[in-house]
Amino acid sequence: MRNFLVAGNWKMNCGPGETKKLLDGIKNSDVSIPERVDVLVCPPMISLTVASDELQDAEGVALGAQNVHSEDNGAYTGEVSTQMLNEVQCDYVILGHSERREYFGETDTTVNAKVIKSLSDDLRPVICVGESLEQRKAGEHQLIVRKQVEAALSGVSEDGAGGLVIAYEPIWAIGTGETASPDQAQEMHKMVREVLADLYSDDMADGIRILYGGSMKPHNAEELLSQPDVDGGLIGGASLKADSFTEIIRIAGELSS
Ligand code: PGA
Repeated sequence: MRNFLVAGNWKMNCGPGETKKLLDGIKNSDVSIPERVDVLVCPPMISLTVASDELQDAEGVALGAQNVHSEDNGAYTGEVSTQMLNEVQCDYVILGHSERREYFGETDTTVNAKVIKSLSDDLRPVICVGESLEQRKAGEHQLIVRKQVEAALSGVSEDGAGGLVIAYEPIWAIGTGETASPDQAQEMHKMVREVLADLYSDDMADGIRILYGGSMKPHNAEELLSQPDVDGGLIGGASLKADSFTEIIRIAGELSS
């Protein structure tokens, strides 16, 4: 039996008004949240309060942020802390997305600090890793992703790592309409699980969800989610429409039963 996590990364889309509409669309959809599927939505910071209120009566849908700072508080203009996310009932936080690494200077070191801080404050990090097209062409994809996972989890003990999620997102597949083939995804997910088993234990590695991200859509979700090491999806574009997001949730539900 599978137990998927279907997560929507809304990126810089949907202010409070649109957030309410999109969540209403998800809640009123014909697709009810299947028992063995966990759903996560990650709106922009400014929409988290509205989303939190909207989700009070939405069982099975958790709330996450797209970033957080590693300090408790202080003079960090424009930043948001883990306690602030706790206050609006966020359970998850996406960390190290390739767009944050590329456009906002996030490094393996800053991602690691945020992972440690989030885990210590009861937020489940969704740690994003993935190679560029050049790295894949050079045959470095496994090495790059292995290093990203190890760096993100540096200093994180097995006891402290409970609840974390990894998202494998090949950069060349994000927002491009190009998807990793099911075989490519499976190969990378299996490798990530081996890295987790080396860092921790086989049991621990089996319990950590590894999501695939990069142009997951209703038409390709089934073949990707059918791979044994793909435990769900981190979905950008297709999470912005209630219909396509709930269709992926429905497919996950079918595969989990
Ligand atoms: P995409 O985005 O589904 O639009 O490719 C995925 C992501 O960046 O998390």
